[in-house]
Formats: sequence, C-alpha cells, structure tokens
Amino acid sequence: MPNTLHRRLIVGNWKMNPATVAEAKKLARIFRRVATSLVHTEAVICPPLSFISICSGRSLFTKKSSPHFHMGAQVASTQEEGGPHTGEVGAQMLRDLGVEYVIVGHSEQRKRGDTDEIVAARLKAVLGQGLTPILCIGESVRDESGAYLSVLKDQIKASCGDILKKSAKSIIVAYEPIWAIGAAEAMKAEDVYETSLFIKKVFADLYGADMGLKVTVLYGGSVTYRNAPDIIAIGKVDGLLVGRESVNAPGFVELLKAVDLVK
Ligand code: PGA
Repeated sequence: MPNTLHRRLIVGNWKMNPATVAEAKKLARIFRRVATSLVHTEAVICPPLSFISICSGRSLFTKKSSPHFHMGAQVASTQEEGGPHTGEVGAQMLRDLGVEYVIVGHSEQRKRGDTDEIVAARLKAVLGQGLTPILCIGESVRDESGAYLSVLKDQIKASCGDILKKSAKSIIVAYEPIWAIGAAEAMKAEDVYETSLFIKKVFADLYGADMGLKVTVLYGGSVTYRNAPDIIAIGKVDGLLVGRESVNAPGFVELLKAVDLVK
C-alpha cells in the first residue's frame, strides 16, 4: 500500500506497555489526534491485546472516522479456527476488534520459541482473515563476510515458502536487525538502504520482478524522532517499526510529524 500510494507506514509496537488502561487510552487519543493531520503518512498502533478494544478509534470516538490511524496487534494465534486453545487469540477475533495489521515473527517472540514453522503458521492465519501481516526479519550479528544476507533470505523463504503470490502481495516486511533493537543507536541509514534493496530482490526472486518493486519494507530498531527522517530519506524504506519511542507520547508525535515532512 505505501509503495503505490507513496504513503509511509509508521507502526508503533508498544510491546508490554503501558501499565494501565488509563495510560493506554491517553496515548491512543494523542496519536489518533495527530494522525488526522498527516498528509503522507499512516500511523498504526499495536497495543497489548488487552488494550486493543479500548484503544481502537471505534470505542474511543464512536461516530467519527479516524483518517490515517489504524489498529495493529503484536501477535495472532497460529490456529485458524476457534477451539480448545487456552491463551490464544485468533486473527478473526482481532479483525472483529478493528485490527488491520498484525506483527508476525518479532525477534522477541522468536527468542521465546517461535520457530520459522510457527512464524509461517501465524502468517498464514493472519492472511487467511484478510489482515496485513508485518513480517519481522533480522540478523543477530552483521558480519563482514555478508552471511547475514543468507539469514534474511532464509527467514523470508521459510515464512513465505507456502504462500501464493496473490496472498503474498499484502505482506509487509519489517527489517529489524536484532542488534539494533533496544540499542543506543539505529542502523546507519545507508546500510538500511542496501539491506532493503536485498530484501526486495529476494521477493523478486520468489514472486517475480513486480513483487520486488512493490513489496513494502519497514525498518525497525532504535528509531527515534531524531533519526526517523534520515532513515526514511536516505534508507528509502516505506516506513518504520518503532518500539520505545512509540510509547513516549511527545517523541512519537514528533516522529510522525517529522516523517510526514520528508519529501
Ligand atoms: P526499539 O524496538 O525501537 O525500542 O528498538 C523496536 C522493535 O522491537 O520493534
């Protein structure tokens, strides 16, 4: 979507924050308000599952539409049908709450046990409900010899291997080098550019040249309002996946406004 419409997608991954319903509501209200003034940017917030309904535009502002403001989830079950799956939340339930985007395969979940097979199953379940998956990939170390490129390629192939082109068209890739997540600094914008080109090439090899041009690539890892404009302008990505800065109200507001001004 952002590629063809030239709109940037800024996704806030709140992780396990904030602590209270009141704080979550407050953040959602602030971001929703600033999103209405955006011209080239779409804002997505991904609160914890327990806060989704209270943060969605539908429950906060029942009648008004909320342009450029979208709901996302941090995870969806691998299960495609409801049933005896204690603790799971299905993509269909998320869709019914107004969720449009779902993060899949975040490194913090891979660390807690999500294998490539599990990531592929979550991806399939999300696509099955017509939601847009944000597939996270990223290497843990960036070696001189370029072995990290094979890591990225293998992650994409393992997750998308069984997915037909028709469905794959809606996949968004979030490139999040693990070493840059929760770090002091983001990856250099020039390196983001190089890696995003590589990701597009892997998609072109898998699905044809048109998909290489069309696939939406985000960057994530220590993005702040200060570095976001350069990552967009020099890194030439279609958007950003933002962790810590997305629960810092003034920082995320600044970030949305700054990105919206990038030519
Ligand atoms: P960070 O997290 O912005 O705090 O580095 C990014 C992420 O994990 O999605």
